Amino acid sequence: MILTVIGARPQFVKAAVVSRALKDFNIEEIIIHTGQHYDKEMSDIFWEELDLPKPQKNLMVGSGLHGAQTAQIITKLEKEMLDIRPQALLVYGDTNSTLAGAIVASKLNIKVIHVEAGLRSFNRTMPEEINRIITDCVSEILFCSSEEGVKQLEREGIVTNVFNVGDVMYDALNAYGPIAKNKIKLEEVLPFEYEPYILATIHRPSNTDSSFNLEGIISAFRELPYKIVWPLHPRNRESITRFNIPENVFIILPASYLEMQVLLQSCTKVCTDSGGLQKEAYWSKKPCITLRDDTEWVETLSGNWNMLTGPNRTKIVNAVRTKVELNTWKELYGDGKASVRIASILKNLI
Ligand code: UD1
Repeated sequence: MILTVIGARPQFVKAAVVSRALKDFNIEEIIIHTGQHYDKEMSDIFWEELDLPKPQKNLMVGSGLHGAQTAQIITKLEKEMLDIRPQALLVYGDTNSTLAGAIVASKLNIKVIHVEAGLRSFNRTMPEEINRIITDCVSEILFCSSEEGVKQLEREGIVTNVFNVGDVMYDALNAYGPIAKNKIKLEEVLPFEYEPYILATIHRPSNTDSSFNLEGIISAFRELPYKIVWPLHPRNRESITRFNIPENVFIILPASYLEMQVLLQSCTKVCTDSGGLQKEAYWSKKPCITLRDDTEWVETLSGNWNMLTGPNRTKIVNAVRTKVELNTWKELYGDGKASVRIASILKNLI
């Protein structure tokens, strides 16, 4: 039996497709929600929309400093894992929930399976980079989204049970894209009558917790000849009150996964510091302006499909003006069948 530990928005999306594949392969799975994300629109909505199996337990750790949050998950999860005694622990990505799960399981000699292994931004000031490196170090089965991930793990001496399966978010986009289109009308989520718009998200502490950086981004938005739809991560609720929000910027509540897909499919460009949205923009053939100085999704940079601007006003404005080289688009991060590959490999290995 596999124990899956998830706690943050993007992990609900990834787990939804993998859980389904595990079920198809008759692999028993128990899910624990750490409670890292807890607002209705950050958590419950995702479980409902994606039809995720109910978690056996919600650890309800909530927010906190990184050390405290990670420690709380470790303490609570260890008890659960000692009870459940799974054959393996399945974790996704690079959040504090990922790290905590990996530490608990590895200390209990339970195999750690890491989905989205081998990713590196080479920026150790990002908490996620630390989480990735440590999780990969203690993982026994590592699923990468691309060959680049496999090569990176090889450089770090990790070569056993490393598989390039493609990216599970591509599976999710293919599975839920048509459902989103059927279920949600653009006019229900767009806060103005349709005209070309940019979809923006900002949640990295380096941007949200620095008035200087946030000012750079907001002043760039002010200069852009587009309306901007900005689903607001709760981390920003307070910080944005310090700014005059330009008239062309429309702040909305955090969007659900399906709402986000609808907003993405109809937008002109994307401005984001999210990891997942960079990929989703690429697959949806929407040019992406990444409000960071680095990306772990380096393959998306070719042909200007993704441009790194950091929070720099001039760079953002110039990047939005830049045309992509349409003929450079090629399928990246697999073929949308990563979850089936993962389940099939696990069936043999566990
Ligand atoms: C976390 C992950 C990040 C991931 C993101 C996806 C870490 C270190 N970061 O970032 O890698 O890309 O999730 O969204 O694990 N908050 C609420 N309600 C919630 C959740 C958060 O109000 O339901 C607020 C709290 O003020 C909290 C802050 O957002 O302190 C940050 O939440 P946290 O889970 O620590 O990190 P994220 O920024 O969401």
